[in-house]
Amino acid sequence: MVTEKIIPKRESMQANIRIQRFTPGRDRSPYYDNFSLEVDTGTTILAALHAIKDEQDSSLTFRAFCRSAICGSCTVRVNGRSVLACSTQLLPILKDFRKGSVTIEPMANLPVLRDLVVDIDPILEKLSKMHPYLVENPERVPEALERESLMSQEELNEFDYMTDCILCGACYSACSSVKADGTYAGPLTIAKAYRFSVDVRDDFRGTRNQAAVDQGLWSCVQCRKCIRVCPKDTRPADSVRRARKLTIDDGIQDTPGSRRAKAYTADIERYGQVNKPMLPVVVFGTRGWDAIEAAEAGLRKHNIKPTREVCTLDGKDGAAKVFEKVREVEQQKQEDKP
Ligand code: SF4
Ligand code: SF4
Ligand code: FES
Repeated sequence: MVTEKIIPKRESMQANIRIQRFTPGRDRSPYYDNFSLEVDTGTTILAALHAIKDEQDSSLTFRAFCRSAICGSCTVRVNGRSVLACSTQLLPILKDFRKGSVTIEPMANLPVLRDLVVDIDPILEKLSKMHPYLVENPERVPEALERESLMSQEELNEFDYMTDCILCGACYSACSSVKADGTYAGPLTIAKAYRFSVDVRDDFRGTRNQAAVDQGLWSCVQCRKCIRVCPKDTRPADSVRRARKLTIDDGIQDTPGSRRAKAYTADIERYGQVNKPMLPVVVFGTRGWDAIEAAEAGLRKHNIKPTREVCTLDGKDGAAKVFEKVREVEQQKQEDKP
């Protein structure tokens, strides 16, 4: 039988590549340069940047090392989306966006050092406060290293999905909460802390939990942008959510975020929906009344009658049954624990 060799169809296109330029101390503000480049099937953003640097403007500055989506150093924003330059092909983007034009900018939420290179020290500083390493639990890690510290598949599954993180910072660049509040630790740092905290060989969970709370664990708005941009599919927003549960389960219960989470749960069980008008009081205590009164005054100005009532949804009994079932399952899990 004669087998026919399949040759992939190659395409090419003339691209207009718009790149943000900025040298602090020399330029008053960022500006854009346009470069025209012939782009083929398979040309990556990184290959295009190299071609521009080699053939058109040697002063263009960007960062990259492995070219294999491993080192995490080449993250940039392409048409506003944070991506790895070395593993993102240009042609499909050019076809999708503005017919042959693409804009490349440095990562967001970090200071620019030059052109597409950002200072990642703020991430590293936040990460170091999370103790992102294993502190051996003597009950699980043998003192002498002639034996392995074994764990079950279930124990590994607790954090295995996070181990592919390459610290590229794409999630940090995309994060709405970091943008709103620069002191928030960011998705990758919280996720890294969580990865070690649920490792059965670790003995430092309490300190890490408190570090996560202190660095804004409850500031995340669960917009899930970090999940959408992560090139390794490590789902950092899920780790943030699980880290919150972990801190509550471990006894850190008196934070605005944990009070809000408890109020949500209690309201949904009781009414079938969240009693939003009263949330500020539940979360911030008597200080919350000021917020409520200010909101009510604002509504009255527009002839809208404020209400503190929460109506009970028809589905409330269904919600209560779901809670009952969840508690049954949780109790069963506790009983099944070895
Ligand atoms: S889900 Fe949370 S951590 Fe992720 S991008 Fe949104 S705010 Fe940031
Ligand atoms: S979680 Fe994903 S996006 Fe964030 S640093 Fe790790 S690999 Fe990059
Ligand atoms: S150059 Fe290493 S991840 Fe892109």
